[in-house]
Amino acid sequence: MSDKKFTTTDAGIPVASDEHSLTVGPDGPIVLHDHALIEQMANFNRERIPERQPHAKGGGAFGQFEVTHDVSQYTKAAVFQPGTKTDVLMRFSTVAGERGSPDTWRDPRGFAVKFYTSEGNYDMVGNNTPVFFIRDPMKFQHFIRSQKRRADTNLRDHDMQWDFWTLSPESAHQVTWLMGDRGIPKSWRFMNGYSSHTYLWVNAKGEKFWVKYHFKTDQGIDCMTQEEADKMAGADGDYHTRDLYQSIEKKVFPSWTLKMQIMPFKDAEHYRFNPFDLTKVWPHADYPPIEVGKLTLNRNPTDYHCEVEQAAFEPNNMVPGIGVSPDKMLLGRMFAYSDAHRARLGVNYKQIPVNKPQCPVHSYSKDGAMRIDKVTDPVYAPNSKGGPSADPDRFPNAETWSANGEMVREAYTQHKDDNDFVQPNMLINEVMDDAARERLVNNVVGHLLDGVSDEVLERAFCYWKNIDSQIGERIEKGVKEGKK
Ligand code: NDP
Ligand code: HEM
Repeated sequence: MSDKKFTTTDAGIPVASDEHSLTVGPDGPIVLHDHALIEQMANFNRERIPERQPHAKGGGAFGQFEVTHDVSQYTKAAVFQPGTKTDVLMRFSTVAGERGSPDTWRDPRGFAVKFYTSEGNYDMVGNNTPVFFIRDPMKFQHFIRSQKRRADTNLRDHDMQWDFWTLSPESAHQVTWLMGDRGIPKSWRFMNGYSSHTYLWVNAKGEKFWVKYHFKTDQGIDCMTQEEADKMAGADGDYHTRDLYQSIEKKVFPSWTLKMQIMPFKDAEHYRFNPFDLTKVWPHADYPPIEVGKLTLNRNPTDYHCEVEQAAFEPNNMVPGIGVSPDKMLLGRMFAYSDAHRARLGVNYKQIPVNKPQCPVHSYSKDGAMRIDKVTDPVYAPNSKGGPSADPDRFPNAETWSANGEMVREAYTQHKDDNDFVQPNMLINEVMDDAARERLVNNVVGHLLDGVSDEVLERAFCYWKNIDSQIGERIEKGVKEGKK
């Protein structure tokens, strides 16, 4: 038998031609029973699935995470026990752009990791920034709309971006970060990843710790200037996607060292910043990051649609030993992702191979569109028929904290140093040097000169003067001169 592959329909039936449809005589009409033609047209019409609402443009790869340091005193999670090696999938992305948009737009980058652990999938869905623009999920959809496209022109619009930001002073830290050098990474390999949120870790004794994840790039930080990024957007809109793929093809495997900031549970109450406020970092001097392990990417996907477009990351995928904190944004995210996946991929999205756990699954989910894994009886719990049952002794309900009070719609309780401007001011004055401050001012001036109305401009000058009076003055001067 020859090794040659012959075309078939999806049912495996050989097709007679790749080029000619079935017609009545060479010049006659096409007949409806040309099933191969109909199948080809129908499948083509259904190739596209909805893109992710935010984070639509991205790329990904597979690899491993290896624990190099013992953090078992802080968490019992199997994935973080000494020496453990776990397969991972990672996806990087921009936030506001659509699937075909340039990789080099100024935007935070998504940094999503799926650990296929022995206790189920653990998803750490972070960004390349340690903070975020807002601190209440009620504002998230409005924020994302302000970054995407207008209703009338279908264009992105700096006026609405600054309108939202200046009316939301809690955005000041993230906006300063975004307008600084790290707002456009050279590629995904040259940026850090952060959980941004505070999570809860629980050890085998039931002791609790508040933690933040820092994945530090082993390639070193490297960024693009606005000018370089603008040029690249025209020359190669897929530059970051290509860079990751080619680097792995050449066996130059990118890696990140995971470090954790760990706060004793009781510190949270009296810490000078609200440790759950997503617009704040924990200064390193207060909680120095400690090393945990190394994440390496070493395998490219072979089918982008199956392995990256259909990858479903969800912060609610947390394994025993890891839990949520009282960060309102994080709590909002517990709903948003699985809902998005059900809408975008269908209810049985966890059976798509890339989303399948590498450990046994004994859930009572049943039926639904595109179910592939067969269900066995009994289909209910409790039962006396040998079906699975939860094991509170093995996994006690420990990843929790207590809360009490009236139901209210209010801002977080203030901690001593809570203020929207103190940390962006630290970033400008204690982290950036003169040259970086100059680039920050130029980036903001360039952004503000691009279609921002006079009313919003006035608010933008105040916003920057609140962060730092000198930087604010320089931005105002730059914009006024640029307008002449
Ligand atoms: P540190 O001096 O201990 O750390 C400063 C941090 O800033 C480093 O992690 C560095 O990352 C990062 N950094 C350097 N240049 C830039 C830039 N242009 N844009 C964004 N980040 C940059 O200070 P603190 O921990 O006291 O924090 C001071 C300020 O640093 C914060 O207000 C925050 O804005 C920023 N920062 C703090 C982080 C934290 O978790 N504490 C994390 C990232 C930023 P690296 O070491 O990888 O080069
Ligand atoms: C993607 C919602 C905040 C990181 C998404 C998606 C939704 C969403 C609906 C698309 C999911 C999909 O279709 O696959 C929200 C809500 C938030 C929030 C409601 C706040 C209330 C954040 C924060 C971070 C973040 C704070 C980072 C710390 C990401 C990443 C992706 C994403 C990385 C892309 C994941 C991937 O690669 O598939 N978000 N998000 N989001 N979000 Fe969020």
